[in-house]
Amino acid sequence: MSRTRTSILAAMALVAGATGTALTAAPASAAAACTVDYNVNQWDSGFTADISVHNNGAAKSSWSLKWTYAGNQQVTSFWNAKISQSGANVTAANESYNGSLPTGGSVSFGFQGTYSGTNAIPASFTLDGVTCNVDNGGGDPGGGDNGGGDPGGGDNGGGDPGGGGNTGRVDNPYAGAKVYVNPEWSANAAAEPGGSRISNQPTGVWMDRIAAINGVNGGMGLRDHLDTALQQKGSGEEVIQVVVYDLPGRDCAALASNGELGPTEIDKYKTQFIDPIAAILSDPKYASLRIVTTIEIDSLPNLVTNTSGRDTATPECDVMKANGNYVKGVGYALAKLGAIPNVYNYVDAGHHGWIGWDDNFGASADLFKQAATSEGATVNDVAGFITNTANYSALKEDHFSINDSVGGTSVRQSKWVDWNQYVDELSFAQAFRQKLVSVGFNSNIGMLIDTSRNGWGGSARPAGPGPQTSVDAYVDGGRYDRRIQLGNWCNQSGAGLGERPKASPEPGIDAYVWMKPPGESDGSSSAIANDEGKGFDRMCDPTYTGNARNNNNMSGALPNAPVSGHWFSAQFQELMKNAYPPLP
Ligand code: GLC
Repeated sequence: MSRTRTSILAAMALVAGATGTALTAAPASAAAACTVDYNVNQWDSGFTADISVHNNGAAKSSWSLKWTYAGNQQVTSFWNAKISQSGANVTAANESYNGSLPTGGSVSFGFQGTYSGTNAIPASFTLDGVTCNVDNGGGDPGGGDNGGGDPGGGDNGGGDPGGGGNTGRVDNPYAGAKVYVNPEWSANAAAEPGGSRISNQPTGVWMDRIAAINGVNGGMGLRDHLDTALQQKGSGEEVIQVVVYDLPGRDCAALASNGELGPTEIDKYKTQFIDPIAAILSDPKYASLRIVTTIEIDSLPNLVTNTSGRDTATPECDVMKANGNYVKGVGYALAKLGAIPNVYNYVDAGHHGWIGWDDNFGASADLFKQAATSEGATVNDVAGFITNTANYSALKEDHFSINDSVGGTSVRQSKWVDWNQYVDELSFAQAFRQKLVSVGFNSNIGMLIDTSRNGWGGSARPAGPGPQTSVDAYVDGGRYDRRIQLGNWCNQSGAGLGERPKASPEPGIDAYVWMKPPGESDGSSSAIANDEGKGFDRMCDPTYTGNARNNNNMSGALPNAPVSGHWFSAQFQELMKNAYPPLP
């Protein structure tokens, strides 16, 4: 299903030309107290709007802009202003950081909305009760109008100092930057009771099939997201996070996220998936964005841990190891996307409960190096790695550490830790970073940790260490991660939102991110027909007693889940309830 994007600006300019009535409500010479520039991009049933307000009157320390829609437009999410709507009446008030509006200054904000029928520009706007000029005439003369106000914003744009050898890239793209709020996820979150507490958080944009590039079922495509990111950017720096996820034979050790491409369809992956994505990302229009990619989750580590010689092997992973198409696909993606100067590639690196064991740790690093030096890629195409994507591993376990022992028995011998070298995600990510550098990745690589669902708060969160009666009692009594077993991965019962996204939280860590959008299912609890290639994995069935990959434990999955990637309201509610840090 194709969708068209129209610029209302262009459409209105035509109308104005035809009728001779310009949209500008008052002649430009009239010294109105304010001028409003309202620009829209729209598609079938949705739109984004970018508004800038120029203050010609007395300086303000706070402001509120009001307008009334003639149609059924409904604002669903917004940025750089607080927007409320009652019927057709909309009020946009400043955020804490952009209330100051000097004489001659401007401020910009934006929002996403829905509509049906026509999406006419509001006839008039008032700023603090005073009617403004409406200036949406074509040329946007002075152009730079929205620079002025924006106080702290324009942080580190400038110099781009030594940046570690990569052409013009900064060392950490998240430093000093805002991160793109996906309006579609934001609308889903805001529609949930209590969801507005987090609906303005940034989440990953998933390119999980070829059709996602242009938008599925009338939804936003990659260009729509990038265009909206430019609007959100304003005069500061903006990161947009794009998950690249469509390898041939995808998800070889599970069924819930099998994809559209068969194991041998590497050429299709290159020409119909990576090439078109690269063509869009390299559009000069988007050169001012910092584009962070997450490259192919759940792929390379599967070749280490779930292939012949392990009791966790699957025939599908053996096939992908033998045909080399995971390695080739990742190499090709890194080479193609890494050639774009403002793209920062982060390769998926599983999580501590997957590659934190000695047998997997070094072997995974070596395989990542192999992939990053295949198909024309080099280590310079890799900005870093991301751990815990869409998983539930706790960030920091405060009540026990890997060096503890009980009665002479190491915590490594507890059932929960089971000889792993790490007890939490932060210690793993930092150590794995060093391992990756030691096998030849650049010394300035940074790690991302997906904290979207690893909060483990709520009433079951232990307040102190477990009893020292046995090593199992000690670990199980103290651990935040309440999973039945570390290998459980589907819609985990009891999980909560983790740390909110933030830049440079710890040494070696570029950012905590919400790459998996909280509220989107990991897989259906029972078989559900779908046209996305998704299978039914019993690890998503709460009655399942497990397999070798979770040491034959119960799955711990929530019941009644929809197909992976689909909105799962009950899970979203539980994630908010068990958030840690807690939500207000
Ligand atoms: C799962 C799904 C994918 C979805 C993603 C984010 O991996 O397979 O379709 O986009 O989760 O929710």
